[in-house]
Amino acid sequence: MLLLSALPLLALLAAATAHPSRHETPAFVPPRPSIPRLETPSEEIPVVSRNGTQLPAYTKTYYFNQLIDHSKPSLGTFQQRYWHTYEFYETGGPIILSTPGEVDASGYTSYLTNSTINGRIAQQLNGSTIVLEHRFFGESNPYDDLSVQSLRVHTVQQAIEDLAYFAQNVQLPMPGGDQVTPGKAPWILVGGSYAGALTSYAMNNKSDVFYAGYASSAVVQAIVDFWGYFEPIRQSMPANCSADVQAVIAHVDSVLAANDSAQVTALKTTFGLQGLAHNDDFAAALQQNFFSWQSLQPDSGPNGDFYKFCDALEVKNGVSAPAAGWGLDYALQAWGSYWKNSFYEQICGSDDNELCLGTYDSTNPYWSYTYTPNPGRSWLWLLCNEFGFNFDGAPASHPTVASRFVTAVWSERQCGYHFPGAFGSNSAIASPNAVGLNNAYHGWNTTTERLIFANGVRDPWREATVAADGTTNAGSDMQPHLLSDGFHCSDLLVREGTVSAKIKSVQDTAVSYMAKWIAEWEPTA
Ligand SMILES: *[C@@H]1O[C@H](CO)[C@@H](O)[C@H](O)[C@H]1NC(C)=O
Ligand SMILES: *[C@@H]1O[C@H](CO)[C@@H](O)[C@H](O)[C@H]1NC(C)=O
Ligand SMILES: *[C@@H]1O[C@H](CO)[C@@H](O)[C@H](O)[C@H]1NC(C)=O
Ligand SMILES: *[C@@H]1O[C@H](CO)[C@@H](O)[C@H](O)[C@H]1NC(C)=O
Ligand SMILES: *[C@@H]1O[C@H](CO)[C@@H](O)[C@H](O)[C@H]1NC(C)=O
Ligand SMILES: *[C@@H]1O[C@H](CO)[C@@H](O)[C@H](O)[C@H]1NC(C)=O
Ligand SMILES: *[C@@H]1O[C@H](CO)[C@@H](O)[C@H](O)[C@H]1NC(C)=O
Repeated sequence: MLLLSALPLLALLAAATAHPSRHETPAFVPPRPSIPRLETPSEEIPVVSRNGTQLPAYTKTYYFNQLIDHSKPSLGTFQQRYWHTYEFYETGGPIILSTPGEVDASGYTSYLTNSTINGRIAQQLNGSTIVLEHRFFGESNPYDDLSVQSLRVHTVQQAIEDLAYFAQNVQLPMPGGDQVTPGKAPWILVGGSYAGALTSYAMNNKSDVFYAGYASSAVVQAIVDFWGYFEPIRQSMPANCSADVQAVIAHVDSVLAANDSAQVTALKTTFGLQGLAHNDDFAAALQQNFFSWQSLQPDSGPNGDFYKFCDALEVKNGVSAPAAGWGLDYALQAWGSYWKNSFYEQICGSDDNELCLGTYDSTNPYWSYTYTPNPGRSWLWLLCNEFGFNFDGAPASHPTVASRFVTAVWSERQCGYHFPGAFGSNSAIASPNAVGLNNAYHGWNTTTERLIFANGVRDPWREATVAADGTTNAGSDMQPHLLSDGFHCSDLLVREGTVSAKIKSVQDTAVSYMAKWIAEWEPTA
């Protein structure tokens, strides 16, 4: 199967929106922590049940009447899309529910199949699989726009309630599909990334609904200053490239700190970014080179954008630098040339510096577009209000590949432009309630029965997961913490287990836990 996540992330972001203006997803919109996308299963290949009956294609869309506001059911319902198969189902088997999170879910129907951990669990345990679109993404919109007013029902708690209300009320389009609500059948929740966090939160908050769960690369801990995003990258990228990038960023920060306008302009000009008026916009632009790390997988091969970047810095006349790198002078020129020769055009096309990478023009219309779908905007709402996850430089005491001139306020100011009036009448700057989120659902410290956490050491989101450096929660036999050498959500994909023995072991261990737990399940209704 073709792994679409190998495509440049920004191309995916651009492809995800159909609006004609090319400025609605500016290059500085941060990458969402989405799960990997696999090719949509072909409708030509028949789906066949255990007894040989032909079933609807995986891509057949179903609709569920979901409550607009779980705290106010009188507001009525909206149509929430889902996809379903009972290819491997036998009476008594588990119902495996999954949302791909902050994406148009129609591109994720492969998560019904045994190319993914979802389908593997179904195949082993006679289960049925469901992919449910998250509210405010794709075509599952409670209201027909993404205005501040409409987004008031876009909260983590509403998303948790959606999962529970769906499980309790859906009549699945299969024989006996009205006899499989929680209590009559065991429900398993599977999710990766943000949806992995939702899996943890919903298992914790709705333990009467969901019997078991699998959370991959689950970003359970909301973090406002999320400099840790760059930490697994700094640790796992080629040593020479890491050393050189750190040297260049230290230089960038010392030039910006000295604030000599001639030197600052000369530095920006090295990267072709002299048109950026604000120094923090320039510093933030240099983060762009790291975002392609997120789409790497163990089987990505050496030709991805991230490696092109490192090759540009480290290969001189056909020779690679030693582990210490080439040093500041060469690396600075090489990184600058990479921007000027190819990278700028790749992310900005023919737009000028300010239009592409400037963030201070609060009159630009892209801040206030409210059409649906716009996954970048819907995701930002969750960041601005609850998660934070602002990508910034490490504290002074810690090595960094991201400039310390970018702070959380750089992003929180943009929240104010996107969602005017949303953060209190006196505040143009968001202040996400990460503390509230961590208190409500216990972040890193959660203890939840029959919940598996699977993580990868090379995942850039690792510092928000239970596998973060310095966390004290080691898990237990009832909440196993499994770790592989994978990247972001690698263990969701069966194929990654064929290239990494550690990922294979995580997948096999997870399936055996599920088998044990499902065997112990007893109906309560
Ligand atoms: C085969 O499975 C389908 C779908 O589960 C069901 O409708 C049908 O009754 C089954 N037929 C037999 C002979 O078991
Ligand atoms: C996955 O399921 C398909 C049917 O959808 C089947 O042909 C294939 O053998 C299964 N793969 C494995 C590894 O069991
Ligand atoms: C799955 O269904 C088959 C056929 O009914 C049965 O033999 C098997 O024990 C079931 N497996 C589990 C894990 O329930
Ligand atoms: C679920 O979370 C909500 C919001 O924090 C809280 O009010 C409720 O008490 C929680 N329920 C359980 C069972 O933890
Ligand atoms: C140096 O950089 C090259 C090119 O990116 C890479 O292939 C190589 O593994 C790196 N070597 C070390 C020791 O970091
Ligand atoms: C940097 O210098 C400019 C004038 O060139 C001045 O307006 C600005 O306040 C200075 N910034 C800092 C952080 O000192
Ligand atoms: C998690 O537990 C650690 C100690 O084990 C504690 O320091 C920390 O405050 C806890 N975090 C949360 C979000 O409860």
